[in-house]
Amino acid sequence: MDAPLLPLYMQLADRMARSIRSGTLKRGERLPSVRELGGQHGVSLSTAVQAYRWLEDARLIEARPRSGYFVAARPPRLPEPQVSRPDNASRQVRLDQLGAQVMALSQDGSFISFGAACPGPELFDQDRVRRAMARSVMRHRELLCTYPIGPGMEEARRAVARHALGLGCVLDPDEVVLTNSCMEAISLCLRSVCKPGDVVALESPTYYGFLEILQSLHLRALEIPTHPRHGMSLDALQLAFETQQVKAVLLVPTLSNPLGASMPVPERRRLAAMLSRHDVALIEDVLYNDLSEQEDKRRAVKSFDTTGHVMICGSFSKTIAPGLRLGWVEAGRWGAVLRQTKAVQSGGQTAVLELALADLLTQAGGGAALRQLRATIAARVDEARQLIAESFPKGTRVSDPAGGFILWVELPESMDAAQLYESCLAERIVIAPGSMFSASPRFRHCLRLGVGGRWGPEHPAALRRIGALAKALMAQDRGDDLAA
Ligand SMILES: Cc1ncc(COP(=O)(O)O)c(C=O)c1O
Repeated sequence: MDAPLLPLYMQLADRMARSIRSGTLKRGERLPSVRELGGQHGVSLSTAVQAYRWLEDARLIEARPRSGYFVAARPPRLPEPQVSRPDNASRQVRLDQLGAQVMALSQDGSFISFGAACPGPELFDQDRVRRAMARSVMRHRELLCTYPIGPGMEEARRAVARHALGLGCVLDPDEVVLTNSCMEAISLCLRSVCKPGDVVALESPTYYGFLEILQSLHLRALEIPTHPRHGMSLDALQLAFETQQVKAVLLVPTLSNPLGASMPVPERRRLAAMLSRHDVALIEDVLYNDLSEQEDKRRAVKSFDTTGHVMICGSFSKTIAPGLRLGWVEAGRWGAVLRQTKAVQSGGQTAVLELALADLLTQAGGGAALRQLRATIAARVDEARQLIAESFPKGTRVSDPAGGFILWVELPESMDAAQLYESCLAERIVIAPGSMFSASPRFRHCLRLGVGGRWGPEHPAALRRIGALAKALMAQDRGDDLAA
């Protein structure tokens, strides 16, 4: 629907990028000359040149002197992280100050940061967002001085329901509640379903922000074995349902944070059935679904829910603009209690913001902006994985997410990522140590790298430097062992 809005060269480049990623065009394969490409696709020479330039910038193809263009050779492959195997015991969450420090330093422009999972402003179509906001304020200025009440502006709830069709969900706009963010939506769901001391099942490792919410609500974390590509093990979850009183499952089925895993579609169907059978709520975070390169994985678990056990939560912080601070939730059978909790907690949002969001979700151009975002971050992630493969210690494993901008790095077991974090800080580089992503000390040798933020020539150099620092720490440890 949006394709005609893309410049011709980008339409061509986008088609070729998809063929490269899907393997139709093989890595290392020779590509047609610029003239041949133009002829094949009925475009001018300059359009063909521009398309190749774009693909070169995205590091998907390379020009070899006097030989022509080739699909870029695949980055050296590192093995993927191991399947996590936490024990079947729930834990109280006791976070230290490390996570808060990482988040604070990630905002500090004097550091080179891989600490946060925040996309940088240059990744978004800022003019599009600005125009929608200005239009909304101009058209609805009286709303600035009117108290917003209820679940949010109807136009925005309708737009969200329409957006959810792309996730395979048919939602009633009257059941959609707008929130201040995805995190507020998740917090409201937990408060609607659980009371202090209840057990919530999570992936292992899991998103640091989830652990913060669990801690603040005095909920216990039960970490479930998780595959780095396919996500939470449903066999292990089934065992947990049979042996523990699990009140809710809090999950990011598509492009989880920090693993980047995406649950296969048949497993999503199976999960929905398990929840109904055991009468357990799923709080499904669909924040990253639109960033998935695999179209089938954009489908939400909610789309298989026939009994209202899935509470679906989202926002547009990673796809339209983090500054909008608007999220949404459809809470299934807990809808009424959630609406009540929301009204008590924070009332409504800024109505002109909600209407700007409705505008952004319904106007043409959104699909084109998303495709561009996916292509840009995919190229960035490829580059980062390549740099990690080249410069991190032998034995390093790294995730290979099909979308998104987060990498999970497993260093050799002897490595202490907290020590590496300190060494990096001394050089004004921020990373997120693995211990932030679990209620147990299980991931001490791991780290998360967010590569969606500001990206200049200093960032690839900093990634290499992290690898060199890790190698130096390992060499130092070996020296200490020999001296002992
Ligand atoms: C899995 C997940 N959920 C939620 C959020 C936060 O979303 P929002 O900005 O809408 O609160 C993040 C941000 O990193 C995230 O990774």
